[in-house]
Amino acid sequence: MSTRIMEPPTARLETGAAADWSVPAGWTGRHLLGLENLTADELTLVLDTAARFKAATSDCSQKLPLLVGRTVANLFFENSTRTRTSFSLAARRLGADTVDFSSSGSSLSKGETVIDTAKNIEAMGVDAVVVRHRTPGTAQLLAQNLASAVINAGDGAHEHPTQGLLDILSIQQRRGRIAGLTVALVGDIAHSRTARSNIWGLQKLGAHVIVCGPSTLVSKEWESLGVEVAYDLDKILPRCDVLNLLRIQFERQNTRPFPSVREYALLYAMNSERMRRAKEDILIMAPGPINRGVEITPDVADGPHSVILEQVTNGLAVRMAVLWLLLGSKRD
Ligand code: CP
Repeated sequence: MSTRIMEPPTARLETGAAADWSVPAGWTGRHLLGLENLTADELTLVLDTAARFKAATSDCSQKLPLLVGRTVANLFFENSTRTRTSFSLAARRLGADTVDFSSSGSSLSKGETVIDTAKNIEAMGVDAVVVRHRTPGTAQLLAQNLASAVINAGDGAHEHPTQGLLDILSIQQRRGRIAGLTVALVGDIAHSRTARSNIWGLQKLGAHVIVCGPSTLVSKEWESLGVEVAYDLDKILPRCDVLNLLRIQFERQNTRPFPSVREYALLYAMNSERMRRAKEDILIMAPGPINRGVEITPDVADGPHSVILEQVTNGLAVRMAVLWLLLGSKRD
């Protein structure tokens, strides 16, 4: 898809009036570390902003140069396909410069700390740091030590706020609402930062959230977060408006939480037979990467109910919105 620079933002017309692309006074955050501490109003503001960016840039395919002269650093200490590419593209769609850091090949192997690494990159004139790290709290740690805006792109099993936001935006765009919907997060809840961000965001906006999976991956203690805990997908399936199928994170597990992948798939994979027993308009989601045949069969992943690739496009809109809210010019 080709990109082209659009006319200056003040000249762009939106719903008949000159568009105001200054950051609304309702947004006061300096960082985005998680969804736990955002209010429902703040969540709505980010989602509305993302929807506005998506509409104003033809599904994020065009440039809207609101952050010219700003620099966004992607600090990825853990692998990523979607999040890293999406943040990089979002920054460039807004006219910002980007710098990409990955731990392999860096001076971390010579003993440099994460804070020193981040401070050195910041010293090159960076305005925002997007960080992914396997240790929960890394984004918070950098926020305490850097002058730049810090965005959490996933910290261990803690939070992945932009994933939560893009999941919620995808539901909202398809259903027109979040309140009153029943959303099930199915799979490896124990190791999932996506589950936590979805739970905080969805509940604040009025959804009923079910976490479902084998008891080795879903403890009853999750009820303390206000969610329903379930172990039998077939029992809850008829009530669900949305299924978000989370990947089994073998790399975070010390022991295998079920006897075999085949047995897991038998009990929890979304397949065509289960689709027949689901609501007619059920939305099938997955944060990716997906393991075809484990959490989801290929026919369902690529079928008419799946919004998996729409989630990826919405991720670009959400990341444009977040970068602009943190770095854009404030309204007087
Ligand atoms: N959903 C997600 O975070 O994907 P990546 O690990 O590829 O960034």
